[in-house]
Amino acid sequence: MERLDKFLCDSGVGTRSQVKVILKSGRVTVDDAVERDGSRKIDAQAQKVCLDGEALGGMQRMVVMLNKPAGFVTATEDKRDATVMELLPEPLRRMGLNPVGRLDKATEGLLLFTNDGDLLHRLISPKKEVPKVYYAKHEGTATQEDVKAFAEGLSLRDGTKCLPAILEPIAAGESRITVCEGKYHQVRRMMASRGMTVLYLERQKEGHLTLGNLPRGEVRILTQEEIKALEDSSY
Ligand code: URA
Repeated sequence: MERLDKFLCDSGVGTRSQVKVILKSGRVTVDDAVERDGSRKIDAQAQKVCLDGEALGGMQRMVVMLNKPAGFVTATEDKRDATVMELLPEPLRRMGLNPVGRLDKATEGLLLFTNDGDLLHRLISPKKEVPKVYYAKHEGTATQEDVKAFAEGLSLRDGTKCLPAILEPIAAGESRITVCEGKYHQVRRMMASRGMTVLYLERQKEGHLTLGNLPRGEVRILTQEEIKALEDSSY
């Protein structure tokens, strides 16, 4: 059993104060009878709650993919910079979504958000080894020695040890990098440790998920099947 007003907030109907107004105006029904009391306890499994006649589902597990543009920090709040939360359309901002891991302000590409804390922790855990694929433009050109050093597990300039990773040279100054962990500035620091300063970085893939044709700055909600596959890849 849970409070009706909490159920309405979790369903994305609005903030607590918006929900209060909506309840007062008689737009909410519980089992087809108008209900104005937000403190009323409901059983979301057994009872039908509607807003303007439309049934509500309560807190749905949600995963959203953003094609992040440069210039936004991965944080829920920031005093100085615009955050990735500002790129979520208004109804999604009320779904309790948190970024999964982080992309640097200058990095572009695939960033997931979820309101499922368990899934979030599994996806960012290096133990689960969910591979993330990056495209980088960089100074210099990656050699077979660099490829080998990545495969063996790099030591960064400050002594930090990295898990084995895949470096694939594409052309002069361009490489694809696959890593299974998300240390601070990981790819930039890995490349720097081999003398290649990263000039541009885009995350193209996480687990089996790719950006597809999602335009930069846009979001899309993953289907339940996609969430299930993502979950399986994190076990
Ligand atoms: N590695 C980095 O250096 N930056 C990112 O944003 C992601 C991975």
